[in-house]
Parts: sequence; structure tokens; C-alpha cells
Amino acid sequence: MFIFESFINPKHSIMRIAVPKEIKNNENRVALTPAGAQEFTKNGHEVFVQESAGLGSGFSDEAYINSGAKILPTIEETYDAGEMIMKVKEPIASEYELIQEKHLLFTYFHFASNEPLTRAMIKSKAVCLAYETVEKEDKTLPLLVPMSEVAGRMAIQKGANYLEKPLGGRGILLGGVPGTLPAKVLILGGGIVGTQAALMASGLGADVIIFDVSLQRMRHLSSIMPKNVKTMMSNEYNIRNLIPTADLIVGAVLIPGAKAPHLITRDMLKEMLPGTVLVDVAVDQGGCIETCQPTTHENPTYTIDGVLHYCVANMPGAVPYTSTLALTNATLPYAMELAQKGWKDACSKFPELEFGFNIIKGDIVYKAVAESFKLPFVPVSYFLNQA
Ligand SMILES: NC(=O)c1ccc[n+]([C@@H]2O[C@H](COP(=O)([O-])OP(=O)(O)OC[C@H]3O[C@@H](n4cnc5c(N)ncnc54)[C@H](O)[C@@H]3O)[C@@H](O)[C@H]2O)c1
Repeated sequence: MFIFESFINPKHSIMRIAVPKEIKNNENRVALTPAGAQEFTKNGHEVFVQESAGLGSGFSDEAYINSGAKILPTIEETYDAGEMIMKVKEPIASEYELIQEKHLLFTYFHFASNEPLTRAMIKSKAVCLAYETVEKEDKTLPLLVPMSEVAGRMAIQKGANYLEKPLGGRGILLGGVPGTLPAKVLILGGGIVGTQAALMASGLGADVIIFDVSLQRMRHLSSIMPKNVKTMMSNEYNIRNLIPTADLIVGAVLIPGAKAPHLITRDMLKEMLPGTVLVDVAVDQGGCIETCQPTTHENPTYTIDGVLHYCVANMPGAVPYTSTLALTNATLPYAMELAQKGWKDACSKFPELEFGFNIIKGDIVYKAVAESFKLPFVPVSYFLNQA
């Protein structure tokens, strides 16, 4: 009874926060670090962490205990102990029954591509707050940015590696050495992923060209990038002209809410140098290279027409330590406000949270999700305005 009261009464200052171990295949991140747990307990909240939940990211149970958290042996006990459940990935089928009406779930959901999950969360009557749709006034997505930063930087690390001859690449060193030309890196899309990729590639000494369609974005990039990074308008003519000279091509295009356009088509592979490496980071949105199919960290690459493709759909999963810290740096301020004020009042300080609510107590409150499955939609304001 006490638990439920503290949840529905946003003025109550104690929140029970539970952190289950991620059980989705190959997911090693955890939603809260020991440092985050300490912030909660310092503010009087209770934190419950499932045994070994942090191990994949390098955080021991002991580290959480030292931060004032309690370790619980099973996933059932962990869900049961919490009012706010902090996770990384969407709940999988075996977790559906563990989610209760008293819960506020704060995690990545990606509802629009998962009808069984949507229906299960409606049935649970929990409040579902999705990281990926928290949206600021300037349209940025603060809880997606950290993973794009990781993937952008990793794209160059991976690309440089696969350019080595024994791994199937052209055998060129990204930065070259004095007396040799550096590698040429083309980056399609100059957003978060593209910017981070350009910084890494240019830092290693490569010649970099960023293609984008936004002049405003390219003006900004030109003013902040080092001299070995150039920008170019993205169109078929320009891309076709430059791909025969490229060593590494990174796909980093995003058109919000739409499939990525195929900027590199199958016929263009024949014009590339043998051993060119393609890293399509946008593969999670369908990819901006026609021949890209999602791959896994176990089996990350394949070759078509002598061109090596790397298309891992969850790149940050390979660096869980960095990814966990990057993600929790971004989520913790929101989670703290949710704990302190409750989910309704937290929106006063962080209006972007309003866009994060996808399902509240059995109703879909995010239009695109309702439209995806032709289910009824209730505006989030209906719930936020309730006393
Ligand atoms: N594979 C992974 O593990 C992983 C991880 C994180 C992000 N991603 C994906 O990476 C992609 C990029 O994410 P982001 O955060 O950088 O997005 P972003 O919105 O910050 O940047 C996208 C950029 O693409 C540009 N663009 C749009 N149409 C274009 C075109 N025709 N040609 C060239 N540029 C064009 C936009 O102007 C923008 O600058 C997304 O699909 C995202 O889901 C994948």
C-alpha cells in the first residue's frame, strides 16, 4: 500500500527505483551506475539492483552496495521492489508479466516497430516513458544523442581496422605516414554520428568529406572542423563522382520518421576501389547504402563486389562501459526529477519529458504509436492535467 501511495502522490519524496539485469541477447549495458545509485540514495530514495546487473559494464554488486543500493537475487523480486523501473532495452516477452500498474518504466521502447510489446504495456497499465522520444524544443533527442556519439566514433575505429589487408580491406593506413597520402573518408550525413566520425577520422589524419543536404548544417560544420574536413552538397552526381576515390564510406543519414534514402546504390559498388570499406551506421533505419543488411557483433561484415560492408545495428553494444556511462549521464537528471517530483510534476522542469510518454495506464499517448497499430490515441495532456 505504501509503495502505491508514494507513486501516485507526486509530492511524496521517496521513490523505490529498481534496476533489472538486461536479458536481451548481447546487451551488456545497465541503466544505472553506482555513481547514479549514490545520487538517489543520498536524496533519500531506495535503490534495488538485480544481482550482477552491472557486471557487463564493469560494475560489481559490491560497488552498488557501497552506493547504498540493495542487491536482489531475481528479476521477479527486482521488478516487484520498484516503483520506477530503469532499463536500457525494451522489456522482452518473458518480462511482460512482471510489469505492474504501479510501475513507471523509463527505458528505450521503440513501440512503433513492436506490436506485441505495445499491447503488453497497454495491458499492464504501467506508465511507459521512452528514452527515444524525449524531445527538446529545438527537436533534438537528448537520450538518443549519446548512442549516436558512440556509434559515430566507433564507425571510424571499425573502418580503420577493416581497411587492414588481413581483414579484407585495401591495406591503407587512415592517416598515412610522411611521404604517403592519407586515406579518403566520405561521410554521408553530418549530424551527430557524422560529426563524431569526422572528428575521429580527421584526428587520425585522414582526408574527410562530409555530405549533407542542409546548407545551414554544413556552414556550421565548416566553421568548427579542422582543415582536413570538407563539406559537400549531398546529391547523386557529387557522390558518384567521389566514390571511386574513397577508402572508407560511413553512412550516417537520418530523415526523422522515415526510412533512410539509398545514397549508394548497388551499381556504384563497381566504381569503388577493391577493398573499400562501407560502415552503414544508419542500418537501424534501413541503411543509406542499398547493399547493407543488418549484421551482428559476432558476424559483423560481408563482402559484395570486393567491397567490405560493416552494418552492425547496435554498435554501442560492443563498448558497454562507455555506452553505459554516456547513456546514464544523459538519463540521470531526468530520472532524478522523476524520483523527486513524480512523473507529472517532472515535466515542469523538463518539458521534453512530455514527448517521452508513450503509454499511460492503458492508453497510448504518442500519436505515431497509435497510428502504427490503428489503436485509440489519448493526448498526454489529459493525464498531465489531472490532479
Ligand atoms: N548502428 C547503430 O548502432 C546506431 C547507433 C546510433 C545511431 N544510429 C543511426 O545513425 C543514423 C544517424 O543518426 P544521427 O543521430 O547522426 O542523426 P542526425 O539527425 O543527427 O543526423 C542526420 C543527418 O543526415 C542529414 N541528411 C538527411 N538527408 C540527407 C541526404 N540525403 N544526404 C546527406 N545527408 C542527409 C541531415 O541533414 C542530418 O544532418 C540514424 O539512423 C540513427 O538511428 C545507429
